Amino acid sequence: METTLIILKPDAVQRGLMGRILARFEDKGLQVVGCKLMKIPPDLAERHYEAHKAKPFYPGLVKFMTSAPVLVLALRGNGAITIARNMMGATFGSKAAPGTIRGDFGVSNSFNLIHGSDSPEAATKELSLFFNPGEVLEFGRAIDPWVYDFGGGKPE
Ligand code: RTP
Ligand code: MG
Repeated sequence: METTLIILKPDAVQRGLMGRILARFEDKGLQVVGCKLMKIPPDLAERHYEAHKAKPFYPGLVKFMTSAPVLVLALRGNGAITIARNMMGATFGSKAAPGTIRGDFGVSNSFNLIHGSDSPEAATKELSLFFNPGEVLEFGRAIDPWVYDFGGGKPE
């Protein structure tokens, strides 16, 4: 099972879209294993997006991400990283396909509602940036035997 780091960005929180976006992930079958409403300090936003440090949009991105509270989530499931990225849609709201979160809820390119880890390496790094040891939980759900086929011993 993979765990991915999702951030519902300040625009999603301010626009009252947290519940609707989270419901999509729950409907899909991904498990919420960590959850934190927080205002991101500037140094944490800088480290989270450090791969973009040289890009012209970096200062504005850090300013946006620290401008108001965000909802940070750890979501778990088979292939959770790719599943979540596909559900988010293309980076820019103006280009994201209908049916995706960015495609359905936004038109802006920089206020694009949601972040998701883009690789297993990024997920490991980002989960450790936003969650302390013990804050990402391990627990079974009563619905798991109906979300996954465990007939072969592992979830399929
Ligand atoms: P994210 O990291 O937030 O999940 O978004 P992403 O992978 O789809 O896109 P990425 O290339 O990693 O860019 C990170 C965030 O920077 C803003 N951005 N602005 N104005 C621009 O050209 C531009 N390009 C990127 C977006 O907020 C994007 O989500
Ligand atoms: Mg990215």
